[in-house]
Amino acid sequence: MTASGPGDGFPDGPEVELPRGDVTEGVVRIGDTVRRPHQPTSGAVAAYLAHLAAAGMSGVPRYLGRDDAGRDVLTYLAGDVPGDPVEPWAAADDVLPGVGRLLRRLHDASEGFVLPAVEPVPGRPTPRFPDGAPLIVSQRDVTPQNTVFRTGAAWGLVDFDLLGWTTRATDLVNTAMHWVPLSDPADRAPVYAGTDPGRRLRGLYDAYGRDVVDVELLLDAARLRFAGSAAVMRWNAEHLGGGWARMWDAGLGGVIERRIAWFATVREDLRRALR
Ligand SMILES: Nc1ncnc2c1ncn2[C@@H]1O[C@H](COP(=O)(O)OP(=O)(O)OP(=O)(O)O)[C@@H](O)[C@H]1O
Ligand SMILES: [Mg+2]
Repeated sequence: MTASGPGDGFPDGPEVELPRGDVTEGVVRIGDTVRRPHQPTSGAVAAYLAHLAAAGMSGVPRYLGRDDAGRDVLTYLAGDVPGDPVEPWAAADDVLPGVGRLLRRLHDASEGFVLPAVEPVPGRPTPRFPDGAPLIVSQRDVTPQNTVFRTGAAWGLVDFDLLGWTTRATDLVNTAMHWVPLSDPADRAPVYAGTDPGRRLRGLYDAYGRDVVDVELLLDAARLRFAGSAAVMRWNAEHLGGGWARMWDAGLGGVIERRIAWFATVREDLRRALR
């Protein structure tokens, strides 16, 4: 067990292990801070979090710097975070409007933020977005395990490693993929048995606000997002290894293929549910 060293100005104390996600190892809490391994994206994350704070966004960590061990230091957000698999309370239909409002606040606060340009990596597949939809930067990983609840409602977000360019519709689809969830029934956790994807998607979508993303744009963004994800995830598995490779080896390619086929069969039902 390493505690933060004396002299770096950050609170010292026992390290409490935090629940593990799929990719990042060694995320711990010390007092009211979280320590995460420093990443190539950490600078962009720090700039984005500062932008969100300046835009008045509550419910996101502040980036405080790096400790003596070189780890990123962020503020700890107190609250309840769903586990994996999610508990019944986090799978209830009535949490979805709160998730939609949280995503809308994030997107509105993100307007105007520009990511520092990075050299494109040759051969790395890029996400596909609906034609003409304006790009924004977002956290792009609004999963239950990255969402902090307060007094029963979605309130905050953690884990900004995947931040990047997207569109509102694409990020809303991505969020729905995790929360509705949008996947073949065979791939859904048992806690979602008997739930109605159309009704759940509608709860999320209405709360986000149909004024900025219309139904056809949302469905088009879903088709493109799902169709493009196998190439992206395969590339990540082959080139980044670690948790990406574990997810791929555990059958993620099949999950993605079944999602694409399932979505094609329910697209009309979803359209009706959203109208
Ligand atoms: N700033 C924070 N405030 C409160 N809880 C946090 C914070 N950061 C992380 N956590 C908790 O720790 C868990 C893991 O952290 P995080 O999501 O950052 O890493 P990860 O999921 O392992 O990373 P990845 O998704 O890249 O694999 C989260 O699910 C959450 O429960
Ligand atoms: Mg996470």
